[in-house]
Amino acid sequence: EKGTYPHFMLKEIDEQPLVLRRIIQEYQNEDNEIKLDPDVRQAMKDCDRIYIIAAGTSYHAGLIGKQFIEKFAKIPVEVHVASEFSYNMPLLSEKPLFVYISQSGETADSRAVLVQTKQLGHPALTITNVPGSTLSREADYTLHLHAGPEIAVASTKAYTAQMAVLAILAVDTAKAKGIELDFDPMQELAIVANAMEALADQKEVFEDLARDFLATTRNCFFIGRSIDYYVGVEGALKLKEISYIQAEGFAGGELKHGTIALIEEGTPIIALATQEGVNDSIRGNVQEVIARGANACVISMKGLEKDGDSFVLPKVHELLTPIVSVLPFQLISYYAALHRDCDVDKPRNLAKSVTVE
Ligand code: M6R
Repeated sequence: EKGTYPHFMLKEIDEQPLVLRRIIQEYQNEDNEIKLDPDVRQAMKDCDRIYIIAAGTSYHAGLIGKQFIEKFAKIPVEVHVASEFSYNMPLLSEKPLFVYISQSGETADSRAVLVQTKQLGHPALTITNVPGSTLSREADYTLHLHAGPEIAVASTKAYTAQMAVLAILAVDTAKAKGIELDFDPMQELAIVANAMEALADQKEVFEDLARDFLATTRNCFFIGRSIDYYVGVEGALKLKEISYIQAEGFAGGELKHGTIALIEEGTPIIALATQEGVNDSIRGNVQEVIARGANACVISMKGLEKDGDSFVLPKVHELLTPIVSVLPFQLISYYAALHRDCDVDKPRNLAKSVTVE
């Protein structure tokens, strides 16, 4: 039930800190160690390469998950869009582990790949919000997202839950492999939950940004570098699916290779700047688009902010920033859709779970 909320999407956005705290609880034992199915731990330890298969927002969570697994657990990861996988099946490593990320656990495109990889005899782990779902039943192992039912077609809390569980999985694998890490995932995720809460209390800011930047526009571009780019791609998906504004996420460095031709007087550009190593470069991109008439909205992170930024996110661990930085995009998309009288929870032409290939 949505209770006092006008829409499920807004309720689900607000539930994110709670979901994160639930995940921390569910994946921790009494000794404050990571609690994980020992078979999953073994499968992660045994594989020599991970193939993440997913669609839509879950695919975007996979792009971030790759960063966690490669940086913490040092296992190479490939992330594939489920519907494309079979056409161009990559050469597989000797001991692949397939990881299916799916909120619903019912996405037909992902299931088709699971059937194929099972036939080949490869182990499969499903990360899902619905443990009894098809993808969960048919895989060898399941990790639960504990996000609670997600009703709005636009995925919000499942995405942040997916990234949190992937971070925990990556750190657990690192530990199982004897890799020393100076990173306590539970402590860092608790900081993220607090940051999310702070954002949820400032919704008017995002309502204003949606009005200022998106009221009448036909298009909008998200730019970022490194992991900010992947969050931008998710921001663009959110905006297009519920507000019907044509939106795309671009890597800052790619602008000069063609995309910058799209910038006209007043084109809204939403830039994310949460990564210290690329702060100067993304700022350079912002200057380039402003010089061509763009209306730039910069969302940065505490410590990296500059005069004129539209919003400064509270500081969290650099690798976990996507779990916080997506919230402004979710809220801006929500308000942009409201301002345009769109059906936020049930956007046109879309279904909550896509059970046809
Ligand atoms: O249930 P799944 O996570 O497998 O669904 C995948 C996509 O259909 C889903 O993420 C879709 O892109 C959402 N509507 C995005 O908000």
